[in-house]
Amino acid sequence: MAQIIGGIGVSHSPTIAFAKDTGKGDDPAWAPIFDGFRVVQQWVQKQEIDVLFLIFNDHITSFFFDHYPAFSLGVDDRYVTADEGGGPRQYPAVQGHVALSRHIASALVADEFDLALFQKKPLDHGLFSPLSMIAGDQEGWPGTIVPLQVGVLQFPVPSARRCYRLGQSLRKAIQSFPDDDLRVAVVATGGLSHQVHGERCGFNNEDWDNEFLALLEHDPEKLTEIRLAEYAERSGMEGAEVIMWLIMRGALSPSVRKVYSSTYLPSMTNIATLILEDTGAKPEPAELQAYREHVGYQLAGVEKLPGTYPFTLEASHRTYRLNDFLHRLVIPAHRTRFLNDFEALCTEYKLTEQERTMLRERQWQALIRYGVIFFGLEKMAAVVGVSNPQVYASMRGEDLETFQKTRRVAMQYSVAAGPRAQQIEDGDS
Ligand code: FE2
Repeated sequence: MAQIIGGIGVSHSPTIAFAKDTGKGDDPAWAPIFDGFRVVQQWVQKQEIDVLFLIFNDHITSFFFDHYPAFSLGVDDRYVTADEGGGPRQYPAVQGHVALSRHIASALVADEFDLALFQKKPLDHGLFSPLSMIAGDQEGWPGTIVPLQVGVLQFPVPSARRCYRLGQSLRKAIQSFPDDDLRVAVVATGGLSHQVHGERCGFNNEDWDNEFLALLEHDPEKLTEIRLAEYAERSGMEGAEVIMWLIMRGALSPSVRKVYSSTYLPSMTNIATLILEDTGAKPEPAELQAYREHVGYQLAGVEKLPGTYPFTLEASHRTYRLNDFLHRLVIPAHRTRFLNDFEALCTEYKLTEQERTMLRERQWQALIRYGVIFFGLEKMAAVVGVSNPQVYASMRGEDLETFQKTRRVAMQYSVAAGPRAQQIEDGDS
């Protein structure tokens, strides 16, 4: 089992990255921020933490309101800094722990948290501002991360209780990951009290911040009873993001030991650093095994279905480039080039010789075995003037006539529209 060594709570204000990048470590006005993070750095190094599970919110950089999820788990092997308006921050990419993130994704979904899962998204200061301080002077964070983005900007957002419950499942998820040597710290970011918009902008409440930290340590259940409007009243509207700290606290045992806590309010945000060590008992092996079976329950046995290829996170990650190439066929300019400038387009998208051969020769079944999702093939078929039943027949190793005999009614159809649909209907591709 992977071990949860402890939890860290830190603010994620862009101020922190700005101070680091502009070398303000010795400036008395900024020094308390560095002092707090230095303790966190030292603790992380002393505890030989391998993985940081980082809970943060994006600030409409990579997650926008065209599709705004509540809980989004990163399942990538690499994360880079995002451009937030002035070019991306010069900070090394960080490695993702893909195996752990896939296990956590399966576990949380098994526990009925319907997560969004993301790849290929640059991440903003919500994650990199505190991460660069936790890594300290090293060339980036030498371990791995698993990021969890929480959508706290557009209401409705999850309640404090929901965050805490998610943390409790996260604990089981991490502990049931079969790697005895893996040492994990759960890092909550955000807060403490601040408000950055409207006439109430500049609001702070240090008394509440101190009470929040004490309750988080000793009586987190009490914090789950507080409504979002009450968090906004006590912490400021943006300060209400501290509900993310409840995910971290839920992932720890009820029994924790506070190693360090500090707050510093220089300007707009009460910047906090907190370390809680987990002092709970290890779960029994039988308990872990039962949880692993629960995680695998929904898909157990699916591998026995002949001719069936579930589209897993492993396939999704491995074939992302090719699926992305096919997904882009929804863009008119891309499909025009697919038809008229195929080889150059494949080169641009770095497709391998095997990949472009499968596409060029319409090897539908080989593409499925390779890990391409059917709904990308369906788009490609529409572009090249092939009907869906022709694709189905080909995957089954049959000609169209033989396949149509297996149906009640022989039909032709496609996701193509307009003249393309008519061409397919007329068999005139
Ligand atoms: Fe934030």
